[in-house]
Amino acid sequence: MIEETFIMIKPDGVKKRLIGEVIKRFEMKQLEIVDLKMVDITRETAEKLYEMHETKVFFDRLINFTISGPAVVMRIRGEDAVMNSRVIVGDTYPDKRLPGSIRGDFSPFLTENIVHASSSKEDAQREINIFFE
Ligand code: CMP
Repeated sequence: MIEETFIMIKPDGVKKRLIGEVIKRFEMKQLEIVDLKMVDITRETAEKLYEMHETKVFFDRLINFTISGPAVVMRIRGEDAVMNSRVIVGDTYPDKRLPGSIRGDFSPFLTENIVHASSSKEDAQREINIFFE
């Protein structure tokens, strides 16, 4: 089914000059970038984006990292875009990341993991609404 998802290239991905590489991975899988912008995320917006993690021990670390530099946010559309994007991005846990996934190729870290991809269709809509009209 054709659907949209939300992708964010996090500050570590921007600092490591991986914007082009990340975009290429989605386009190679026939996912279409329908909107894109570079943003300096405020603390308030980061807390809204990650509100489902508010009670987790890593929340403060995650928010401070998310606002540590510019990020790139994107709306991506294509066949099963939510699920396919998560495969392209790779697992949350470093020891489960497969080579060929973005995180598997570029990050050994749990928090600083290059890219965020929405985990469900509902989250995708909510996250798109935070950053795009
Ligand atoms: P993301 O896919 O953007 O969704 C939530 C983020 O929280 C995740 O990527 C990581 O950056 C971070 N994260 C998830 N689990 C942990 C954890 N156990 N410790 C620290 N950071 C985490």
